[in-house]
Amino acid sequence: MEISPPIIQSALAGYTTPSFIQSILDNGAGIATFGGYSLDKLTNEGTIEIIKRNRKEILLPLDETEFQKWCHLNLNVKKSSDKQQIAINLRISKIDQEALRKINFLSKFIDIIELNAHCRQKEIVERRGGEYLLKDINRLDYILKKIRKASLKEKKIGIKIRGYIVKDKHKLVNVLESRSVDYLHVDCMEPGKPYANLKILTSFSELTDITLIGNNSVRNVKDVQQMIDAGASAVSIARPLIANPSSIKRLISECKTKGILK
Ligand SMILES: Cc1cc2nc3c(=O)[nH]c(=O)nc-3n(C[C@H](O)[C@H](O)[C@H](O)COP(=O)(O)O)c2cc1C
Repeated sequence: MEISPPIIQSALAGYTTPSFIQSILDNGAGIATFGGYSLDKLTNEGTIEIIKRNRKEILLPLDETEFQKWCHLNLNVKKSSDKQQIAINLRISKIDQEALRKINFLSKFIDIIELNAHCRQKEIVERRGGEYLLKDINRLDYILKKIRKASLKEKKIGIKIRGYIVKDKHKLVNVLESRSVDYLHVDCMEPGKPYANLKILTSFSELTDITLIGNNSVRNVKDVQQMIDAGASAVSIARPLIANPSSIKRLISECKTKGILK
């Protein structure tokens, strides 16, 4: 999958208001990502619990009419180039008919549905969403199959994972390939460490030709180069963008100047 420029914004639950995403697009990111949002009744229930302990979240309406209104109000942003893409990161646990209709509806507004197999909040994991999916690959496979069926044909499907959780990379990659997933977005977090473990990315790049997006602690040109050397086709940034969405523009420009990006 082509990502241009190959520097993108990674999901930031609670922060992706339309004005935030607009600012990410205005600053030239290859992909701006809405969410993560909890799509179905179970993950919605988990998110209400998360909000109760004062973590910032944006709650999607459960009622379908309200959900559609919400999409019109919150997903209408303008790209600044034809190459830019808009993704939505979704936590999904219970994929019933209602969840499928919602996926179909929201896929009209965006280019990519990114399945969240990354969230580690206990309220989501205990409801079999987020990173739980990496421990139940059959369930992950079933959800990907359903998303593919429900979303509009031309839309892309990505998956965001927490790399160190994956026990059997072969099995995961086989499922992603068989479901024609367009990209694998890997958080290379090393528990307890303030840097990325690039070996995680390399081990995926040795197994598959799926487009890899490298994530975690990418802050400067050197970090971008190291992710690319480890097998990434693109890199993503999250935390620095909360305070300063324009930092993505600076990094893209520095990478272009140094000849890392065309
Ligand atoms: C406040 C906050 C909310 C986040 N929400 C999500 C999310 O909903 N879905 C997801 O896949 N990752 C989420 N992440 C993880 C980031 O996308 C990213 O993987 C992580 O922060 C490491 O990248 P960074 O070092 O550039 O920040 C969140 C991170 C933060 C700080």
